[in-house]
Amino acid sequence: MEKILNALPTSKTIHPDVNVLKDVHKRSLENPELFWQKFADELFWYEKNGLAFQPMEEPPYAKWFASMKTNISYNALDRHVESWRKNKVAYYWEGENGEKRTLTYYDLYREVNKFASVLRSLGVRKGDRVTIYMPMIPELLISMLATVRIGAIHSVIFAGFAAQAIADRVNDSQSKVIITADESYRRGKTIEIKGVVDEALKHTTTVEKVLVVRRGHNIVNMVEDRDVWYHELVESADAYVEPEKLDGMHPSFILYTSGTTGKPKGATHGTAGYMVWAYFTQKVVFDVNDKDIFWCAADVGWITGHTYIVYGPLISGVTSLIYEGAPDYPTPDRWWDMIERYGVTIFYTSPTSIRMHMKHGESWAKKHQLSTLRILGSVGEPINPEAWSWYYKYIGQEKTPIVDTWWQTETGGIMISPQPGLALVPLKPGSATFPLPGVDADVYTEDKMIAKPDEKGYLVIRKPWPGEFITIWGDHERFKKTYFTKFPGFYYPGDFAMKDSDGYLWLLGRADEVLKVAGHRIGTIELENVLISHPAVAESAVIGKADPIKMQVPVAFVILRPGYTPSPQLRVELINQIRQAIGPIAAPQALYFVNKLPKTRSGKIMRRVIGAVAEERNIGDITTLEDETSVEEAKKAYEEFKLEILSVEENLR
Ligand code: WT7
Repeated sequence: MEKILNALPTSKTIHPDVNVLKDVHKRSLENPELFWQKFADELFWYEKNGLAFQPMEEPPYAKWFASMKTNISYNALDRHVESWRKNKVAYYWEGENGEKRTLTYYDLYREVNKFASVLRSLGVRKGDRVTIYMPMIPELLISMLATVRIGAIHSVIFAGFAAQAIADRVNDSQSKVIITADESYRRGKTIEIKGVVDEALKHTTTVEKVLVVRRGHNIVNMVEDRDVWYHELVESADAYVEPEKLDGMHPSFILYTSGTTGKPKGATHGTAGYMVWAYFTQKVVFDVNDKDIFWCAADVGWITGHTYIVYGPLISGVTSLIYEGAPDYPTPDRWWDMIERYGVTIFYTSPTSIRMHMKHGESWAKKHQLSTLRILGSVGEPINPEAWSWYYKYIGQEKTPIVDTWWQTETGGIMISPQPGLALVPLKPGSATFPLPGVDADVYTEDKMIAKPDEKGYLVIRKPWPGEFITIWGDHERFKKTYFTKFPGFYYPGDFAMKDSDGYLWLLGRADEVLKVAGHRIGTIELENVLISHPAVAESAVIGKADPIKMQVPVAFVILRPGYTPSPQLRVELINQIRQAIGPIAAPQALYFVNKLPKTRSGKIMRRVIGAVAEERNIGDITTLEDETSVEEAKKAYEEFKLEILSVEENLR
């Protein structure tokens, strides 16, 4: 540990002084209008009147740049095309099969204009919703940029989601158009994703057109009057589409994320606040410059990809790398080989991926020259000190700082993290360190008091910040209720946290019924709803079980209806039902048949008790912070439930 801290680089740009951060942070909170106005001057605006920041009557939120007009696509493309960056590389793209494409800012600008023209020709207008379900090919990014260029609202759905999940999201957003591709590739296999869209569309009514991008060579079913090929329409497309001049608060995209009900939440981001936040955080956390090769190895289908593959890097004018495929395909050194071949300088991934590579062993990384790296990032879940140290030692070669970045779909961009672009503080493996400027974060107890140093509590953000999402699509009441009532007037992200005596923040995982499976957010109730929809199931409870690589995996407990008996076949059938409804990422690792579930007197399922039994942990480990039950009640329920699982398991063998 000492070694790690002492080995951190010090240079003119990296100031190892916590006070520098604290000082900027203080100024940003004291005068947000001035702070953000000044920063926004670095970007392009059609109109720039009025206040950068207006607090609203109801405390949780604010209007950001509300009376100003801008366009994200203009700031990401046209602004650079008018500068020396016109022919600078925006993206190096590599397919899983080794295929390569290079797109300069000017190439991308031309593609986006043509795509925008095609969308217009399909009747897409400002404010319309466009669902995008695509593999990680440049057209995915191009279609997003084209959508925001014309003021339409994109809803990107991760390509691993199944038909029912797509249908639910299309129906909620009332999308008029879906953009997809014929097929995608993963681990050498071809997946016919157009077929998944066809299946989803059997359960929707709003979609008028399906725009299909040609990726493969196979014959695809095209529905007459509904499905169109992009390569055919683009032939008559215009080379230039004037960007819409959009109000600061105009919705730019919806991204669905899981919560504590069965219905995913359409987190909706605005235009100017999100844009400024993406740009600001890209600079402050990743300290990017024109020589960098930036690689965020996430999927564009999640917020990490939206902000740090698409918008943050482009608005900042950097060169990025995009990789389509699996991280260990065809061999476990695929990533390390790519870092070497492209000379990547900043690399951003998740603790789950690091642990997966740890399992393959460091010999794969040692085969490659990784000395171009200067910043490593981590996101998606708390990073355990073992993974941190491995990443530091074998990838960062003991000289590269690790930015452990805490944030969420709802926050638009990074909120708590080391900030090499401002001043690099000494790192502590497992701590995300300090909040960014504009982020008024603290830890509170259940009784709404500020927690003492080292006391576990809830993370709370006391003031609005530019990247804050603006609503839950179609359900503003749920937005207020979910995020702003537990700590009235403050934003409650749903995470446990702790602040140590040096003021460093430690993020300790979700405090609600949402799991983190390989960095993906999965609502237990969504899974329970799928199980209950099966005729054999009377009741179910899904909990997260600790997993050495994925952090958590879903485990299901099911009570059958009278007349049904537990069997290995039924177990497989129920797990498959989840695969088919939501997608393989949500499939439970185990499913137990039980006669009873432990419940509180008010009928709430005691998830912590079930979790302790599933992990064969001692009842003493159960945290009661958010439970209404007494330790006595929990203990009794634990003993009873333990017998329950054992007895039913035996019946099955
Ligand atoms: C949840 C948000 C942020 C983009 C990807 C995930 C957890 C995220 C960290 C971190 C500890 C983290 C939180 C948060 N989380 N980053 N560095 N340390 N926990 O976005 O799917 O919206 O999930 O991920 O629990 O609430 P998301």
